[in-house]
Amino acid sequence: MRVLVTGGAGFIGANFVRQTLQERLEAHVTILDALTYAGSRASVAGLERLTFVEGDVADARLVNRLVEKTDLVVHFAAESHNDNALMDPSPFVQTNVIGTFTLLEAVRKHGVRLHHISTDEVYGDLGLDDPAKFTPGTPYNPSSPYSATKASSDLLVRAWVRSFGVQATISNCSNNYGPYQHVEKFIPRQITNLIDGARPRVYGAGLNVRDWIHVEDHNSAVWTIIERGQIGETYLIGADGEMTNLEVVRLLLAEFGQDPDGFEHVNDRAGHDLRYAIDSSRLRDELGWSPRYPDFADGLRATIDWYRANEAWWRPVKEATETKYAAWGH
Ligand code: NAD
Ligand code: DAU
Repeated sequence: MRVLVTGGAGFIGANFVRQTLQERLEAHVTILDALTYAGSRASVAGLERLTFVEGDVADARLVNRLVEKTDLVVHFAAESHNDNALMDPSPFVQTNVIGTFTLLEAVRKHGVRLHHISTDEVYGDLGLDDPAKFTPGTPYNPSSPYSATKASSDLLVRAWVRSFGVQATISNCSNNYGPYQHVEKFIPRQITNLIDGARPRVYGAGLNVRDWIHVEDHNSAVWTIIERGQIGETYLIGADGEMTNLEVVRLLLAEFGQDPDGFEHVNDRAGHDLRYAIDSSRLRDELGWSPRYPDFADGLRATIDWYRANEAWWRPVKEATETKYAAWGH
């Protein structure tokens, strides 16, 4: 099976490529990745049955050429970080909207199966005491430039399925953690701060809730949807991992043997979504998926070990990331 993975040098895409090559010996993977600041060749170095193409998902000629020679496209490529989108939304519109449009036109032309990776942020946020969680029927209500562009891309996929019969599925997943995540993101930023003897940085009061899932669980769910999902359907991926940011930071401080109050409160994010929570019952009941890392604390410990053991991977970008955050008061 020939699988084209866009954004395969990023966090979730690289883990997807690794997992796919390890678990599916029949697969040959081609990565299409622009190697932006978020992409790293080192994340997929040394793998067999892999072709790496450096290029832009919005480059129609290149995308056409690659899609023509593939059986399945899994579309991870995106600008993914909310804080960056608040500083400059333009690459988000370009990659997330125009890039997805470009890919849709190519899979339409060549009749190739597509799985589109999206986020729970398209649904906006929930109140802290809201009994409801996000379901596939929750109306779209994105609050940030990032989530608005992801919502736009999902709507394009839905329209291409309905209007042109494109063979696509969509998944909307909650916050991922695990190896190879850029140190700009919450968990790796705090782990690498603690390794460096610096205090974790918590936005605002730290009461915002995220629904954490290990990246391997996200990717096993993606394969479940590719193999057993219904064309045109949306599946929500989550592992019942709701935690406040303060709870996560205190778990990390405990793992590093430090005082539970050994963190800094910093400027809050503009428009900061309060809470995300996923109801993944369609995925579990209809497709029979379940997570391999149901215990967040175990997954977090394994992730800390990975960052401790792989300093060479993250060290080159740590200082520049912290300089950027310092300029923003984060
Ligand atoms: P990431 O920022 O770590 O990686 C994105 C990758 O896309 C990078 O390798 C980058 O070089 C590449 N890329 C960016 N622009 C490109 C372009 N124009 N052409 C080709 N490649 C390009 O992102 P991630 O956290 O791995 O997220 C991957 C996908 O999963 C995104 O679509 C994101 O919206 C979605 N998602 C992420 C999470 C999360 O918690 N990180 C949760 C749910 C959904
Ligand atoms: O919900 C899925 C989304 O999760 C994905 O679509 C996004 O691509 C991914 O980046 C993530 O978005 P968040 O904005 O939730 O993730 P981030 O890691 O930036 O922040 C997680 C929470 O931690 C959020 O409430 C902001 C807060 N935070 C973040 C950083 C970087 C801090 O308190 N301190 C920090 O230093």
